[in-house]
Amino acid sequence: MKKLLILMLAAMMGTAVEAKTLVAYFSATGTTRFAAKQLAKQHNADLWAIEPAEPYTAADLDWRDKQSRSSREMADPEERPTIRQCTNIMPYDTIYLGFPIWWGICPRIINSWVDNNLEQLKDKTLIPFATSGGSGVEEAVEYLRKTYPQLKWQDGILMR
Ligand SMILES: Cc1cc2nc3c(=O)[nH]c(=O)nc-3n(C[C@H](O)[C@H](O)[C@H](O)COP(=O)(O)O)c2cc1C
Repeated sequence: MKKLLILMLAAMMGTAVEAKTLVAYFSATGTTRFAAKQLAKQHNADLWAIEPAEPYTAADLDWRDKQSRSSREMADPEERPTIRQCTNIMPYDTIYLGFPIWWGICPRIINSWVDNNLEQLKDKTLIPFATSGGSGVEEAVEYLRKTYPQLKWQDGILMR
């Protein structure tokens, strides 16, 4: 009986340890979602989609149009698009944070997410990852480190 209890406890602790990594991501057109799923599988992590309250349309994503929603958001560093649902990040100590590169850095919705979770994020290890049309992830990581120096940003991962 005692042996059985110890085995059950060990199994429960094992589960708790495995559940400590989260892959949270924003994806407008699915590329980062695909990368996030791969990462989650690789690290046995939970997966969370950061979704805007108002989804981006194709016209919103037109980077050639200076008046498109994404262009306006990226032109204003204070812009914070509303997120549909908040994330429970409490159980996690490592968080992979993924996004598409927009104008060299992360979309403003990533700022919204970090701002919403700022207090709790102070204890976590944060690993940015991104997909892009060719840009690297370094500028985005530098931007995140500058904007949130109180957080533990690791080097970023560029996923194709
Ligand atoms: C508004 C906007 C700006 C972008 N800016 C860049 C950029 O600066 N550099 C780059 O390599 N790709 C850029 N891209 C391309 C995306 O980063 C790339 O297609 C990404 O994989 C899309 O990911 P998603 O499908 O998860 O949204 C941009 C795309 C959009 C919509």
